[in-house]
Amino acid sequence: MSESTIANQEQREFWSDIKGDLWVTLQPRIDMMLAAFGNKALDTLDPQSGERILEIGCGTGTTTLALGERVGVSGEILAADLSQPMINKAIERADLGAQHPITFVEVDAQVHNFPTAMFDAVYSRFGVMFFDDPVAAFSNIRQAVRPGGRMTYVCWADRKANPWIRIPAGAAKAFLDLPAPPPDDAPGQFSMENEGRVQQILHDAGWTDIGLERFTIDGSIGSDAADAASFITKMGPMSEPFALADLDTQNKTLQVIEEALTPYANDSGVVLGFSTWIVSAMQT
Ligand SMILES: C[S@@+](CC[C@H](N)C(=O)[O-])C[C@H]1O[C@@H](n2cnc3c(N)ncnc32)[C@H](O)[C@@H]1O
Repeated sequence: MSESTIANQEQREFWSDIKGDLWVTLQPRIDMMLAAFGNKALDTLDPQSGERILEIGCGTGTTTLALGERVGVSGEILAADLSQPMINKAIERADLGAQHPITFVEVDAQVHNFPTAMFDAVYSRFGVMFFDDPVAAFSNIRQAVRPGGRMTYVCWADRKANPWIRIPAGAAKAFLDLPAPPPDDAPGQFSMENEGRVQQILHDAGWTDIGLERFTIDGSIGSDAADAASFITKMGPMSEPFALADLDTQNKTLQVIEEALTPYANDSGVVLGFSTWIVSAMQT
């Protein structure tokens, strides 16, 4: 990927460094946690046999393979991501199993020159919250969709409604120097939490028929509190500060998170609330 085609250099480094490697390693477990949300967005998009779909922030390719299944051999998937380790993993997995025409591109979706009016639909599972200029990004993505085409993506709703991450991150602050939550208009996990902001961004980017459906479920983040603490320090917003901390700090952090999660442990694991928006829009 040439430097001139990247607007989100910081995000590229973030998703290609410690974070990208952790996501590759934890892929099966992250998929278990995110499956319900990706499937809900997939069912809402309802890809048809033979359709051409553009996927944004495809990560290690789990949802790309699912999209491939839906569109079949006569369809086409172009899957974009700016993380080298994650897209390399996706390519490896697709080579192993996919029978369908899937192409992966390591690009910044905000500025990449996608073919004009080529796609029937756009899909993303948690891959659209990290643009430094979301209006530019969603305009760029929109120009790749044919008139009458559609988009559905899933993103996190407000932090308060997501105790699965709010509670362990809150506990970790006792020992880790966590970065302050970014301002509402900055790239980040919760940058699309506000319904009005999402409506405004997509409207300004030229999308129409914009709709947000709240999708909230309880889910498990680990078999017990210790397992959940170990997982969440690797995949959540504390993953980088945790990885860079010394062993003593890491152990203290794990212990304080474990204590915070213990009240939520039951026979089904450590069960907490997850809340998302399923966002849909049209290209007219
Ligand atoms: C939270 S991960 C989700 C990955 C995958 N969709 C999944 O659900 O497993 C966010 C993904 O978006 C990608 N991403 C972030 N900003 C991007 C951009 N500007 N263009 C393309 N991909 C981007 C990251 O590299 C990462 O793979």
